[in-house]
Amino acid sequence: MKQDMIVILDLGSTENTVVARQIREFGVYSEIHPHDITEEQLGELQNVKGIILNGGENRVVDGKPVEVNPFVYHLGCPVAAIDHPTAKCSQKWAQLPGKEELKNFVMAECGAQPNWNMKNFIEAQVESIRRQVGGKKVLLALSGGVDSSVVAAMLIKAIGKQLVCVHVNHGLMRKNESESVVEVFQNQLHANLIYVDAVKRFLGKLEGVADPEQKRKIIGGEFIRVFEEEARKLEGIDFLGQGTIYPDIIESGTKTAKMVKSHHNVGGLPEDLKFELVEPLKQLFKDEVRACGVELGLPAHMVYRQPFPGPGLGVRCLGAITRGRLEAVRESDAILREEFEKAGLDKKVWQYFTVVPDFKSVGVKNNARCFDYMVIIRAINTIDAMSATIERVDWDVLEKVTNRILAEVGNVCRVCYDMSPKPPATIEFE
Ligand code: XMP
Repeated sequence: MKQDMIVILDLGSTENTVVARQIREFGVYSEIHPHDITEEQLGELQNVKGIILNGGENRVVDGKPVEVNPFVYHLGCPVAAIDHPTAKCSQKWAQLPGKEELKNFVMAECGAQPNWNMKNFIEAQVESIRRQVGGKKVLLALSGGVDSSVVAAMLIKAIGKQLVCVHVNHGLMRKNESESVVEVFQNQLHANLIYVDAVKRFLGKLEGVADPEQKRKIIGGEFIRVFEEEARKLEGIDFLGQGTIYPDIIESGTKTAKMVKSHHNVGGLPEDLKFELVEPLKQLFKDEVRACGVELGLPAHMVYRQPFPGPGLGVRCLGAITRGRLEAVRESDAILREEFEKAGLDKKVWQYFTVVPDFKSVGVKNNARCFDYMVIIRAINTIDAMSATIERVDWDVLEKVTNRILAEVGNVCRVCYDMSPKPPATIEFE
């Protein structure tokens, strides 16, 4: 089914995504495009019911105000403008319009139908994947994170066994995470899954490395090498699936706004390994990706998981990683997650985890002096991870978690709670 669309042309606003999200909340699909979109490019978009010229603080580039090509006013659909409004628009707002005003333009003036929903989106993507891929094969690095899991589920629906998933267990996953990838994708969804046990290899490379950035480089670099090795073993693969989502594209920079961060999910593959990309989620915001995962039948624990850093527990086992402390991080993290879930905090707190520093402290166990590790609990709330406040966790919950960690995790004699906001402390310790 064809979905109606409102096109937002970026004339230097920093609020393009706010407008796009608002329109999607009305049930109408919307996409952001650069101000200098060509007639041909716009013509390729289906069912465009209206256009919004979104001006703002970045309207002037190299001393010249950003303008749209005149054809935009002659397409036969209503055009609205936000900020420096021009006379040619049917609707003009000096600033971001209120919800009702925007809704009135989208639904009444443009006549857009609220037919944007996940069922239709999935149907359209499945069709487009089949068209793009034909009878060929797609390779996907399946970490078990939200984005790669949802892409995998979408591709399985579209092309079944033509998808080859590679899951690399680097030993820095949370408790039962790799097992859950195998259970869901291999056993339940019957995916073509290659499971690579690279635990020894990663821990070997990381041995004695204490510098956080060095650890990150080793984990990222080794991941690419393992994935490349698996890709070379396979034959006849032309496509690479990627969990690119809309913020990745927006943050990679627009014509009027500077790049926030470079975007590449499985960047760094060698030149001779050339694949065409399949990116079925690239128009979705994070919460829409989750809704898509639910619609595709993925379990809630996979779709609603909290953010987890790429280097995994590797940056939570502080300093040079040892097997013993890594297990202490994994076990204490599992206890914390279990107790937060029981207390309903998993739905409230943005990110929560444990770390184990690389020093010991004195304790007493069984009437004798011991010299054991410490677990630090961190629970924070944030909107964009740029700044964060701590969660004021109920004392009883903290005490329960502490007692369980002391009783169930070996070589730990002390548990602390991190009270530091960001800034000055970052969310992760390394
Ligand atoms: P910080 O520690 O910088 O973390 O306050 C902000 C958010 O980013 C996550 N994080 C990472 N994610 N690779 C990632 O994919 C990394 O190396 C990394 N370091 C931090 C962190 O968990 C938090 O959500």
